[in-house]
Order: sequence, then structure tokens, then C-alpha cells
Amino acid sequence: MSFVVSTLLSQETIADRVRALGEQIRTDYEGKNMLLVCVLKGSFVFAADLARAIDLPMKIDFLGTRSYGDGTESSGVVQITHDLSRPIEDVHVLLVEDIVDSGLTIAHLLKLLRTRNPASLKVCSLLHKPSRAKIEVPIDYLGFTIEDRFVIGYGLDHAEQYRNLPYIGVLTA
Ligand code: IMP
Repeated sequence: MSFVVSTLLSQETIADRVRALGEQIRTDYEGKNMLLVCVLKGSFVFAADLARAIDLPMKIDFLGTRSYGDGTESSGVVQITHDLSRPIEDVHVLLVEDIVDSGLTIAHLLKLLRTRNPASLKVCSLLHKPSRAKIEVPIDYLGFTIEDRFVIGYGLDHAEQYRNLPYIGVLTA
């Protein structure tokens, strides 16, 4: 099936918001030993831009998760495909997500990482689809709230395609 992609959030709109989030995070994390955790795969583009918008020393690590098959509905089962490379005890951890949809992935990751005793644990998500929430999760830093549309681009995929689109779009059949 071939799809048409229409723009939901342009490159400029995203860049402006990422700059503002970076500034807010810089103020909050000044003087703290900060670890930015990029939740793979979807947040690799956002995390790369966000990290460069935060003018502070930081470490960066990666956490791989998989909750969707090739479809557009969460399987509800969150698999860790790649764990953090180091302990996070006494570290100020900021989890960077592409999108909070059902909330199941972030809820699972928060529960898992809390057992490792970080100094603090917060969430930054580029997108939020509140209408799809199955579980309430705290989002400390949020880029955009969007309606219930399946979005692609800027790291987000449909069946592993479209991650390299520089903007966020919606697919229409
Ligand atoms: P959740 O566990 O349902 O909150 O979904 C988390 C993950 O599902 C996200 O990190 C994305 O990788 C993926 N996801 C959710 N909604 C979308 C979407 O609209 N487009 C692409 N991926 C999505």
C-alpha cells in the first residue's frame, strides 16, 4: 500500500520547540550530574537535537525498547532490546522519548529505572497523544500535544520506514 505524507509539524516548528525545551532543561539541571537517556529507536533524532540544545555537561546513554510490531497499535508488551551501559545510582536521569501514546512504555521504563536508585528520574517527550492514554504517566517536559493520528518522521516510523523524514507527518492511504 502506498501512502501520502502530509506535514503536521514542520522542521522550523520542531526546531523552535526543541530550543525552548533545551533552555528550560538547562536551567533545571545546572550543577547536576546529568544523564540523557535516548529511548531507541524512535527518539534518536529528537535526542540528538535536544542534547545539542542543552548547554550543560552531560553523559548520554541508550535504552532500546520495542512495543509495536509492524502495525500501528501497541502490543502492550514492552521489550528491552538494549539496556543502559552503566549504573545510574545517584545520577540525574532524563528519559527522552519520541511520543507517549498509551503510556505503557514510559510507565514500564520508569518502574524499571527507579529500582536502580537514580538521584532523580524525569521524562521529556516530544509528542503526547493524551486521548490514547491507558495509564497516566508524568511528562516533565513536553514538546507538543497531538490528536489521535499515527505520525511518522523525525525518528518515528511506520514498519521501520520514514524515520529519516526531517519533519513530522501523518500518513493517509
Ligand atoms: P506507548 O507505549 O503506547 O506510549 O508508545 C510508545 C512507543 O510507541 C513510542 O515510543 C513510539 O515508538 C511508538 N508510537 C506510538 N505512537 C506512535 C505514532 O503515532 N507513530 C509512530 N510510533 C508511535
